[in-house]
Amino acid sequence: MTALDQYFEKHFKTSTELLNGRSVQDGYIRSVGLQFGELQTLIGKDPLFRDACAVAHGRTIISGENRMNLYLLIKYFLPRLQTGHIIEFGAYKGGNSIFMAYVAKALNLDITIYCLDTFTGMPKTDPSIDLHTEGDFNDVDFDELKNYAHNTLGLTNISFVQGLFSDTAESVVSEAGSFSLVHIDCDIASGVEESYEAVKNNMVEGGYIAFDDALFSSCLGATVIIEDILIRRDGLNSEQIYPHYVFRNFDKV
Ligand SMILES: C[S@@+](CC[C@H](N)C(=O)[O-])C[C@H]1O[C@@H](n2cnc3c(N)ncnc32)[C@H](O)[C@@H]1O
Repeated sequence: MTALDQYFEKHFKTSTELLNGRSVQDGYIRSVGLQFGELQTLIGKDPLFRDACAVAHGRTIISGENRMNLYLLIKYFLPRLQTGHIIEFGAYKGGNSIFMAYVAKALNLDITIYCLDTFTGMPKTDPSIDLHTEGDFNDVDFDELKNYAHNTLGLTNISFVQGLFSDTAESVVSEAGSFSLVHIDCDIASGVEESYEAVKNNMVEGGYIAFDDALFSSCLGATVIIEDILIRRDGLNSEQIYPHYVFRNFDKV
């Protein structure tokens, strides 16, 4: 048992019951632990976290805190839910999906990590709300990425899906059936909206949708979708606002 496992054994005593669609205590244990407590230090020393970071090195731009939050969700929170797959919308060079696949494999989770992107850069964006422009993030070697994940690392639990979400998400969702964790990291309003709409009715009970960029100053388009669609239209409350914006409980949506 690692020091991180001991920390969760000691502090993680909350029930799985959700109030207004979220567990405030679960949100606090991850968020406060990462922002003000000792979780960053403990996770930074955790052998599996370190190994998974090493194989993703140089292939992801997500922040250290966000990667730690995903690690906590996969290791300590998903086991309390029904089994469901993981999907990442906006993978860029694939490092974060590889990180999650490596962790899932090491924990013997019988799930697939679906990794979606054009892998040729941003599609058309909306200059009235998005800062990013078409073609950003176009420096991906997709063949090298697939070869690295499947052949160099031997990961059989990762599925790369190339194309616009509007062309690919529906068939991925119907193949997968249900998700326990969705990571939305596509920076622009249209992509965030398409991702959310594609998965919201295919979440296991209490499953997590973590929005990476909605809290970044450069991604107001992502923020607008959270405000307009999740909060105002669907009446959802968040479980975390640091380091991700995390929502659960989509059964009435
Ligand atoms: C910030 S990057 C993702 C970073 C990545 N998660 C990582 O770990 O480094 C955003 C990605 O979203 C992708 N994207 C945005 N909208 C998309 C859409 N509608 N369909 C497919 N890919 C999209 C872009 O191609 C880009 O690679």
